[in-house]
Amino acid sequence: MTETFSRQPSVMITGGAGYIGSHLALLLQNHGYRLVIIDNLSTGNAWAVPEEASLIVADILDTATLVTAMKEHRIQTVIHFAAKSNVPESFAKPDDFFETNVNGTKSVIDACATAGVKQLLFSSTAAVYGNATHGLVDEGAPLQPISPYGQSKLEAEQIIQKTCSLQEIRHVTFRFFNVVGAHPSGVIGQYNPTSCHLLQKCFNCVREGGELTVFGHDFQTPDGTAERDYIHVQDLASLHLQAMKYLDGGGESLLLNAGYGSSHSVLEFIKVFQHVTNSVFPYHFASRREGDPASLIADVTRLGQVLEWSPEHTSLEQMIGSSWLWENSLKRKELG
Ligand SMILES: NC(=O)c1ccc[n+]([C@@H]2O[C@H](COP(=O)([O-])OP(=O)(O)OC[C@H]3O[C@@H](n4cnc5c(N)ncnc54)[C@H](O)[C@@H]3O)[C@@H](O)[C@H]2O)c1
Repeated sequence: MTETFSRQPSVMITGGAGYIGSHLALLLQNHGYRLVIIDNLSTGNAWAVPEEASLIVADILDTATLVTAMKEHRIQTVIHFAAKSNVPESFAKPDDFFETNVNGTKSVIDACATAGVKQLLFSSTAAVYGNATHGLVDEGAPLQPISPYGQSKLEAEQIIQKTCSLQEIRHVTFRFFNVVGAHPSGVIGQYNPTSCHLLQKCFNCVREGGELTVFGHDFQTPDGTAERDYIHVQDLASLHLQAMKYLDGGGESLLLNAGYGSSHSVLEFIKVFQHVTNSVFPYHFASRREGDPASLIADVTRLGQVLEWSPEHTSLEQMIGSSWLWENSLKRKELG
């Protein structure tokens, strides 16, 4: 799997033992980057970190440890993924979400400023838009998060906008839409037993023989179920590589949606899932969940104008198929 590239600069990934972070870490390692992963392993896993990367088990609130690691490894770019992101949990524990997502982001920026790191990529979320019901949402749409998770990410974005310009840190902030899929080799994929994402719930039904609950069938969408813009984790990783090259080339700070600009409803997702995995499981409808908008689709016009990125895994079949490969891998079975 390793490709040959000239040795690249050092990159720090906070949350690099998590789902998205570990996929990006593998991609960057294969492109010759030296990697330092900061992760407290609260939802991440040490086994997901690529062999050649240095894993430092630490909390992002520990600014001093971040500074030491940034200086020691001569970090050129920090990619800040570490966060709490389970939406239902954010209603139960809003303070914990603000501590990690807002104060944690402040800590990462303070560390960058102290250690002289001038490039930052930040993972925000489409949840900052809240209940946008007009189909495509561009970056200038009203920001009305309807969950403490979305609110905490919005505050983190605002801190980045303000503090990074004062500190002359150039950044690319991405608002991720719904991330799914796994590495095509089957060596890594999402492993978070507490995940509330639709794909994980479908897998649980296959594994445990349960019934799927579809929240909401009275949304203003063609089949009444919620529509989402799903993006493959491998395409999201390659998007980060492009954004880093953009900053390396002296590019100015950007705020961009990260999606494909197309959507699938929950019912469509279930249909493709059952086809790809050759499985059948029952589902029933329940009332809408607090904080779930009807439709969230990225307007990717700005993204297409500023970054050279060609996504390669855009079909639901590819997204679900790669996850199915991971679910059936030896590693995944070992984890239980
Ligand atoms: N998965 C999605 O669909 C999605 C959508 C929008 C935005 N995002 C954002 O992408 C980022 C990565 O999400 P993910 O899906 O990979 O989640 P994840 O839970 O798999 O990864 C988060 C990682 O951060 C680590 N972490 C959490 N708190 C920490 C702390 N205080 N100090 C150090 N490490 C800490 C966890 O252990 C984990 O490894 C998050 O910022 C999330 O908000 C994800």
